[in-house]
Amino acid sequence: MKKILITGGAGFIGTNLIKELLKNKNEIFCIDNFYSSSKKNIEQFKNNKKFHFIHHDVINPIKINNKIDQIYNLACPASPIHYQRDPIYTMKTNVLGAFNICDFAKKNNCSLLQASTSEIYGDPDVHPQKESYNGNVNTLGPRSCYDEGKRSAETIFYDYYKTFKVNIKIARIFNTYGPFMQQNDGRVVSNFIVNALKQKKIIINGQGRQTRSFCYIDDLVIALIKLMNKNSKFNGPFNIGNPEEYNVRQLASIVLKLTKSKSKIHYSKMQLNDPKKRKPDISKFSKNYKWKPKISLDDGLLKTIKYFKEMQS
Ligand SMILES: NC(=O)c1ccc[n+]([C@@H]2O[C@H](COP(=O)([O-])OP(=O)(O)OC[C@H]3O[C@@H](n4cnc5c(N)ncnc54)[C@H](O)[C@@H]3O)[C@@H](O)[C@H]2O)c1
Repeated sequence: MKKILITGGAGFIGTNLIKELLKNKNEIFCIDNFYSSSKKNIEQFKNNKKFHFIHHDVINPIKINNKIDQIYNLACPASPIHYQRDPIYTMKTNVLGAFNICDFAKKNNCSLLQASTSEIYGDPDVHPQKESYNGNVNTLGPRSCYDEGKRSAETIFYDYYKTFKVNIKIARIFNTYGPFMQQNDGRVVSNFIVNALKQKKIIINGQGRQTRSFCYIDDLVIALIKLMNKNSKFNGPFNIGNPEEYNVRQLASIVLKLTKSKSKIHYSKMQLNDPKKRKPDISKFSKNYKWKPKISLDDGLLKTIKYFKEMQS
């Protein structure tokens, strides 16, 4: 049994991770300020004596009077509509948050996993993306606060490892989907499913030829826990995701088929700096951690559709 701090624990990944960690009798400390989530996700834990919620903003120093063993740093809005709402705040969450969390980990002498992202590769001109690829990121575009914030955070985490020997792990997470995503947070999977269920139009940016690789949340949660629990000083960065690649148009037609929806597809303007291709090379993580995603896109989408149907009823 471990004492585990999860920042951003009320969000999509955090809620799924907490559910899994509580099964193994760990004690969970969840920090969140509901910037891109609501209390609803974590209501399910409120009667669990091993779950503690701390309303806190990670841009301020972290104070917890318990000896923490592990930290998962998930605090950061992940969907463009949330992270672009206040780009300066997104940058502060990434950068000041990284300093505060690293300082807290240093004091606690505990392991610290950073939820980094495929977005650190920007609009990649190398395909698929390996960890050795340095990316193609615009410093001045609408996505820069997130992409550059996450890149800076990786550097801060790595420098705390080099300087203070803090036990750091970096997961570069590729598009992940599943239950506990917000209905209206603008991510492609939740958007398509929610609109298909409501028989509303499905909007594709550009021609829909841009590709993404979609990982079901249960596969990601297993990978994050494996990465956290392996005993070695510096772990990463590791790409974590599902390398099966689909274009956005294909995703829309699979969602329409699985929901049996009559929604029509509409095409709108391509967003600035939207990556044209994205697919992880996961060989480094697979080899070192004996992990590969098991849940197919159809199976994962069916579970996610069931969740959104229940939310709407
Ligand atoms: N879901 C994905 O596909 C994906 C892909 C790559 C990386 N990630 C990373 O994983 C992490 C979790 O993503 P998610 O999909 O669960 O996003 P999410 O928006 O659902 O969850 C993020 C949580 O962090 C909280 N938060 C934001 N700013 C905060 C602050 N300053 N202080 C305290 N809490 C704050 C939000 O309220 C929310 O509960 C993020 O860091 C994200 O960048 C996610």
